[in-house]
Amino acid sequence: MTLPPTGSESLLLHNPLFDAEKRWPAPDPVVWSFHRRMPAYLATTLFDCPELARKYGVKRVLVKAETQRLGLPSFKILGASWATYRALCDHLGFEPEPWLNINDLARRISYLKPFALAAATDGNHGRAVAFMARLLGFQCHIFVPAGTVPARIHAIQNEGAAVTVVEGDYDAAVARSAEEASDRCLVISDTSWPGYDVTPRRVVEGYTTIYMEIEQALRSAGIPDPDVVVVPVGVGAFMSATVSYFRSRAWKGALVGVEPADANCVQASAAKGEMTAVPGPHSSIMVGLNCGLPSPVAWPRVSTGVDWMISIGDHRARQGMQELASAGVVAGETGAAALGALAALYEDASAAEFRERGLLGPDKTLLLIVTEGATDRGNYQAVVGRPPEEVGTLLTLSR
Ligand SMILES: Cc1ncc(COP(=O)(O)O)c(C=O)c1O
Repeated sequence: MTLPPTGSESLLLHNPLFDAEKRWPAPDPVVWSFHRRMPAYLATTLFDCPELARKYGVKRVLVKAETQRLGLPSFKILGASWATYRALCDHLGFEPEPWLNINDLARRISYLKPFALAAATDGNHGRAVAFMARLLGFQCHIFVPAGTVPARIHAIQNEGAAVTVVEGDYDAAVARSAEEASDRCLVISDTSWPGYDVTPRRVVEGYTTIYMEIEQALRSAGIPDPDVVVVPVGVGAFMSATVSYFRSRAWKGALVGVEPADANCVQASAAKGEMTAVPGPHSSIMVGLNCGLPSPVAWPRVSTGVDWMISIGDHRARQGMQELASAGVVAGETGAAALGALAALYEDASAAEFRERGLLGPDKTLLLIVTEGATDRGNYQAVVGRPPEEVGTLLTLSR
């Protein structure tokens, strides 16, 4: 199957590769234990948003707000921190246990210095790797694609990292970062390539903490599992973690992945039946999702575990930012994609099949993962009409 060309309207695909019988190993609780030893660890908030539930005609809309995670404005530090730790253990050849906190860990491994971390990024992952390097007292070199907005570059530099702008897109930045690998530098990439897949798998494992926290919050509030879960998709690593959690057991709900209209590589790959590239330029304001090729490490879980894939235009992301702001949640452009997808599923002609199957019925509980806070303050104010601190929880915007 080949998809029609995408424009600014949404496009919905009922994933032909979905396999309802397939089960994946459940997340390892050791990952969550690791994150609880990070400085200032707190579970992020799971918002119950009755006004959004009313608007979209469903029983409940839950929003997991990854807008402030370990002091950074996105969920990415969960993957970067766990993957860095595991890569260090592999480099050392042993686990530097017992350590109480990151300062203690940094002291135990200080003999490695001078030592560095490197990564490519569209913003959030690189900032998270830079943050880890700073905590561990390492140097850091981050590669960003041409056109990365200055606010994102400055946020990475403020973590003490050197930033190089690579001529080309995200995939070019990934290729350049791979050249940094040496016995004094670990490359912490969230996407894989032939011969490099251990660390990207660790990144995926790191993200599963989000679902352990959600499970705990739902259990303690006596709320059953959600019926529909909507997750933003770039290379698919985060969705792969989502599949690990929901498809490790007999869950009857539906997983929906959302991508930008001109960077819908996971949707296009599912339609074609194999991984396929969607060439750039990718210019969506949902910058964290501007990816042209799924991660090979993520693809097996994503291709078989996701029920629906929707691609949306930027106007839906803006709408998501505004509606989340009304609910008191500060979501950046990428972070708001899940609510933008809900709006498209609710309204667009292309999503009629989704509605006809009753997935937005009055008995349904929806879970939206908001993966990012206001990382571009100027644009946030332009879209929402108010600065982030007037909307909800005050975010760590810059250091
Ligand atoms: C804020 C945000 N949300 C979602 C994603 C998508 O994650 P993945 O690339 O693992 O699909 C990214 C990726 O950079 C991101 O930065």
